[in-house]
Amino acid sequence: MISKEFKECLTDVYHGEIAGEVATDILLANAEDAEQTYILGTLLQFETEGKAIVRPLLTRCGLDLYEDEESRTNGKNLGEQMSALPWTDRFATLHELVSVNYLPRYEELAMLVSAEEDAEAARIAIFMGDHERAFVEVASNIANNRPDPAAPITKLLHFPLPCAGTERLRRDG
Ligand SMILES: [Fe+2]
Repeated sequence: MISKEFKECLTDVYHGEIAGEVATDILLANAEDAEQTYILGTLLQFETEGKAIVRPLLTRCGLDLYEDEESRTNGKNLGEQMSALPWTDRFATLHELVSVNYLPRYEELAMLVSAEEDAEAARIAIFMGDHERAFVEVASNIANNRPDPAAPITKLLHFPLPCAGTERLRRDG
């Protein structure tokens, strides 16, 4: 039996993905070179997949799939604020913001369901904790100029973007 607390937390996670996708889309529109385009495109894909992964469970829990206006507005405001910051400062800020405001709630999801209770819900709950931790790691990688900063999220993508696209863009650009 899936609890009310789990359902509320799952809804918050879904809203987080909606806001994250809108924010990333704004950042992608303002990408300055091929590397930023690849990283932000990969982040966009990560948020899109995050939404897709939780939708079957939302449906099974009887929860809404529609993308609420408040989450979209939050994402738009975040994207616009972050666009104004230089690249590394932007990800240092996002690292702090997501670690404090989003990650604890994402990690809570796995504490609100057990595999005995519902194996599929438990699997998705663990995955979404991994998902958000991977974002925090990527933000730290970018803020600290580490090589291949997006690696933690490309590992979790079901439909990763081809890296070759970045090379081609570099050659053509
Ligand atoms: Fe996400």
